[in-house]
Amino acid sequence: MKKSAVITIAIAGFMLPFASQAKDATPFKPTATIQQIMSSIVDPNIDFVWNSVATISTKDGVEEKSPHTDEEWAEVKKHALTVLEASNLLIIDGRKVAEEGANTSSAGSTELKSTDIQKLIKTHKSEFNQRALGLHEAMQLVVKAIDKKDTEELIRTGGLVDRACENCHLQFWYPIHKSK
Ligand code: HEC
Repeated sequence: MKKSAVITIAIAGFMLPFASQAKDATPFKPTATIQQIMSSIVDPNIDFVWNSVATISTKDGVEEKSPHTDEEWAEVKKHALTVLEASNLLIIDGRKVAEEGANTSSAGSTELKSTDIQKLIKTHKSEFNQRALGLHEAMQLVVKAIDKKDTEELIRTGGLVDRACENCHLQFWYPIHKSK
């Protein structure tokens, strides 16, 4: 073996641990579980947005509930932006679905156990990311409606968000047919 080849192999051997380290290394530290992100970030903030508008039918006609002042619209936008960016938190690799032993059922037996959800996300990660992106896109439309101070549009796009939540939950939380 020529000396230069030996040196090349030696360098390659030296570099290998760094190469695999670089592949595994992520600048993110996903500490909270998906469950915690849902209950602490996504749910309370989207509730604020959803509850800021409503079309209420009364015996005297249709009443609209909506933000009025610039400050009120700005407040709704803060909550919308929080949900918008929370969608990115869901995409980060290496996040646990729930704490050990945490209950992921709310209504009984239709929801998967967290270990099953974890497996499902692992085997269908790109679809999971697509679902998170679906939430991101719906939230972008919500933010646009808020910027236009358009109540009707905020109600409509709020409905799109609801569907984006369901699309992910139906596949990963309480799938009717278990995925292969
Ligand atoms: C990309 C997937 C995804 C999207 C999008 C998503 N969720 Fe979830 N959500 C999950 C998973 C997985 C669980 C099941 C784990 C669990 O019980 O928290 C869950 C659970 C929940 C829970 C139960 C939390 C608990 O205490 O167990 C709530 C509430 C919730 N989601 C609300 C929402 C709302 C509201 C939206 C839309 C604004 C949304 N989610 C969008 C994946 C998603």
